[in-house]
Amino acid sequence: MPNDLAGKLLVITGANTGIGQATAEILAARGARVVLACRSEDKTRPVIDNLRARGGDAEFLSLDLASLASVRSAAEALLAAGRPIDVLINNAGLAGLRGVTKDGFELTFGTNHLGHFLFTVLLAPLLCAAPGARIVNVSSTSHYQAKGIDFDALRAPTPSVTALPEYAVSKLANVLFTAELARRLGPRGVHSYALHPGVVASDAWRQIPWPFRSIIKLFMITNEQGAATSVHCATSPEVKDHDGRYYDDCREKKPSRLARDPDLARALWEKSVEWTGSDLGD
Ligand SMILES: NC(=O)c1ccc[n+]([C@@H]2O[C@H](COP(=O)([O-])OP(=O)(O)OC[C@H]3O[C@@H](n4cnc5c(N)ncnc54)[C@H](OP(=O)(O)O)[C@@H]3O)[C@@H](O)[C@H]2O)c1
Repeated sequence: MPNDLAGKLLVITGANTGIGQATAEILAARGARVVLACRSEDKTRPVIDNLRARGGDAEFLSLDLASLASVRSAAEALLAAGRPIDVLINNAGLAGLRGVTKDGFELTFGTNHLGHFLFTVLLAPLLCAAPGARIVNVSSTSHYQAKGIDFDALRAPTPSVTALPEYAVSKLANVLFTAELARRLGPRGVHSYALHPGVVASDAWRQIPWPFRSIIKLFMITNEQGAATSVHCATSPEVKDHDGRYYDDCREKKPSRLARDPDLARALWEKSVEWTGSDLGD
């Protein structure tokens, strides 16, 4: 592997397993200093030990995206350290779980979008301080299934039985957030990308009963293959001038009609500001 990321600081959410872990491993092997922002130190410590044993530079940051207080503490720790962030990869995500976050938002939306919104907005000064910084939002092809965003429904427990319609909305939010970030931070030199990682044999399928799970996983790509598009968006010179776009299999792809609606992107941003009490500074 080339040592082309030496001296770069990368922050990855949900890097203790699955696609996030594979992404952290690839980027650390290329010389980056990687912050693994995860909710369980016990689950993350073995990953960090393994990265360090292979000569990587990795550290743990406590982050529970389902708690806005936890998101603020995590961002404060990075702001206190004051190191410019070259790449933020908003990778963590959950699917198929019902409930509310600690702050009363629909669990999937609150975790997959709102927690990442607050984390990103709070870290903007550190991203703006790194030349050509990038934000990579791991979305999903599921965003094509979303029929719209019912903002009132996001202040209540998951209404559906499967929580999959809510997952689609959260992943639509990831693409809309990316487009709005590009509009707001692009002029300040921070580039934003959204992506679908592929159908990946990660822990994401833990809700599916074991015999079926092991069979369907045979037809999926590996975590390392699933990390490829995140790594592409985080590092490739090819995407440098393609701010705000959506990628699948390391290639640009047209996201859904709703995901390309600038009014919806602005409305989501404004609601997210109202609900988190935070916006980008000047
Ligand atoms: N697998 C696929 O086929 C697929 C397809 C399309 C998109 N994606 C997207 O890819 C991303 C990575 O998913 P994956 O497949 O690697 O799934 P995974 O193996 O289930 O990993 C998800 C990661 O998110 C973390 N996470 C969940 N809730 C969190 C919270 N409240 N605070 C902080 N971290 C939290 C998990 O932490 P814990 O280990 O502590 O739970 C874990 O590290 C997700 O955004 C997912 O939506 C995956």
